[in-house]
Amino acid sequence: MRLLVTGGAGFIGSNFVHQTVRERPDVEVTVLDALTYAGDRASLAPVAEKVTFVEGDVADAELVDRLVADADVVVHFAAESHNDNSLSNPWPFVQTNVIGTYTLLEAVRRHGTRYHHISTDEVYGDLELDDPAKFTAETPYNPSSPYSSTKAASDLLVRAWVRSFGVQATLSNCSNNYGPFQHVEKFIPRQITNVIDGVRPKLYGTGENVRDWIHVEDHNSAVWAIIERGAIGETYLIGADGEENNKAVVELILELSGLPRDAYDHVSDRPGHDMRYAIDSSRLRTELGWEPHFTAFRDGLAATIEWYRANEAWWRPQKDATEAKYAQLGR
Ligand code: NAD
Ligand code: TYD
Repeated sequence: MRLLVTGGAGFIGSNFVHQTVRERPDVEVTVLDALTYAGDRASLAPVAEKVTFVEGDVADAELVDRLVADADVVVHFAAESHNDNSLSNPWPFVQTNVIGTYTLLEAVRRHGTRYHHISTDEVYGDLELDDPAKFTAETPYNPSSPYSSTKAASDLLVRAWVRSFGVQATLSNCSNNYGPFQHVEKFIPRQITNVIDGVRPKLYGTGENVRDWIHVEDHNSAVWAIIERGAIGETYLIGADGEENNKAVVELILELSGLPRDAYDHVSDRPGHDMRYAIDSSRLRTELGWEPHFTAFRDGLAATIEWYRANEAWWRPQKDATEAKYAQLGR
């Protein structure tokens, strides 16, 4: 199989490439990545000899057409992915998430190529803390931020290209990922690296907001299950029953780092901050036989802290610029 992975130098995409090279030696991997602030070739260094890397934009129609022509399957991870950035400057989100996806869809349509679309549970909006409901593929779209609304737009394009043009696509909407190679702007790596730097973790608002954490390896094993066994046109929700509120996550990072559990600060809240996400992944489990393996959050978090301690050379170059952006926001 010749596989084109967009966004393969980012957090989830690079983990996907590592897992694929490790477990599927017959797959020929080509990565297309624009190397924005969030992309880092160093994330692919361990597999550099085994993948073809192309630096370029998913909205570059000519380049995308050429690469798609040579692929059997496309997995589209590339995106602007951070909510806080989308509130400061929405334009790159519209350009990459909407126009970029459109460009890929037109190419896979021309070449009849199998396409898998990576998306987020944030397209469904948020749930109340006491709501017994979880998101399913039937939950109406109700995105809150420029990030989630552009991801929602991209999902709707995929569904329309399936129905109108017969594009051979599947979609997945996953909950919050954690694990190695995640940019230090995101919640868990930001707090881990703050602690390493002797800086107190920063909790937005009250810290009651709940995210449904999944280890990135489990997300990616689900993506492979969908590529191999998913039904064309279907949407699969990926989650591992990992609901935790932000306060509990910060307290656990502090505890696992040998510090008092209350050694954090509250900072101003994110505008429009979604309260809770929760995934019902029963369809993926019953129809495709997928199961997560990293279900002990405490162990996964401890291993992630260890990874950031051991790989300071990977994240250090991003840390100051990231914190300077947050300082401007007062967070
Ligand atoms: P990331 O920001 O770590 O990586 C994004 C990658 O895409 C980077 O390597 C970047 O250089 C590349 N990129 C950005 N714009 C590009 C463009 N125009 N052309 C080519 N490459 C471009 O993001 P991530 O956290 O790895 O997320 C990957 C995907 O998974 C996204 O589609 C995101 O919406 C989705 N997702 C993320 C999470 C999460 O918790 N991080 C959860 C569910 C879904
Ligand atoms: P984030 O990693 O940005 O992911 P998302 O917005 O996609 O859920 O944030 C996860 C949660 O952590 C979210 O509720 C916002 C909160 N948060 C903090 O409390 N402090 C921080 O420094 C950051 C970056 C996020």
